[in-house]
Amino acid sequence: MAPTTDKLTYANYLHIDQLLSIQEPRSNPPEHDETLFIIIHQAYELWFKQILHELDLAGVKFREGDLWGVYHILKRVRMILKTLVGQVDILETMTPESFVSFRDRLDTASGFQSMQFRELEFRLGLKREEVLKYMPEGMAGRDAALKRLNEPTLTDDLHVFLKNRGADIPDEVLNRDVKEKVAPNEAVQDQLVEYSVNSPELANLFELMLDIDEGLQEWRYRHVQLVRRTIGNKHGTGGSPGVPYLERTLFEPVFPDLWAIRHRF
Ligand code: HEM
Repeated sequence: MAPTTDKLTYANYLHIDQLLSIQEPRSNPPEHDETLFIIIHQAYELWFKQILHELDLAGVKFREGDLWGVYHILKRVRMILKTLVGQVDILETMTPESFVSFRDRLDTASGFQSMQFRELEFRLGLKREEVLKYMPEGMAGRDAALKRLNEPTLTDDLHVFLKNRGADIPDEVLNRDVKEKVAPNEAVQDQLVEYSVNSPELANLFELMLDIDEGLQEWRYRHVQLVRRTIGNKHGTGGSPGVPYLERTLFEPVFPDLWAIRHRF
């Protein structure tokens, strides 16, 4: 019997037709590597979406006091980040000559305008409202990023979790302005040391969070090197000085307190 069109299939469940129709090179005739350039960015955006999805649930689990739930989710986030870092290798097979053959067609479009990347930074605690100044009102995803700017970060969720387990987290930390970047706090650091020493399960959680922090930093390093080898000292299409701008974003932790205690053991 011939298959009916309304039957659920791999293709219609996953909207494969739609998915494969959204790679539209702007070069004419199409430059071979522009397809790779588009697909890799689209793949990153899908993984950003998945990470945000996971981090939202991690927040719920933290607030429910479900340590193993959080642990399970953050392990997945760590693995996705490793994949994101690994994907840089693929784009590094594109030479500067090849990129320059279609770069002009990007106009002012740039990863700088990735709203989900900003959402990710905000969710993890790197709140920099000024990055939104470069995104015109009405730009797709801007409202979602703005919403996240005003929401608690994963670190805020951790603080609530620790407080509910009896930790002495200061009120000014629990009631901080969530629009601000998470700042290091000595009283919190004391608690993190205490729990690291006395609770192996929490020590493991902190290590996992540090893996995620380091994963994001690793991505930034790989991205800046990718940019350096592909455009050298040219300015970015997003209008920044390019490599010097990206270098300034390196080594910035998302969980500063977890780094600040490393010498205390
Ligand atoms: C040939 C490949 C690439 C080049 C030459 C490149 C270049 C740049 C440059 C120059 C910037 C600084 C902003 C600007 O002035 O445009 C930037 C930022 C950015 N790019 Fe890329 N990029 C490449 C690939 C990617 C990929 C695959 C992603 C994955 C999503 C990505 C995501 C980002 C993000 C999120 C930023 C903002 C970083 C921040 O502000 O901290 N880029 N890129």
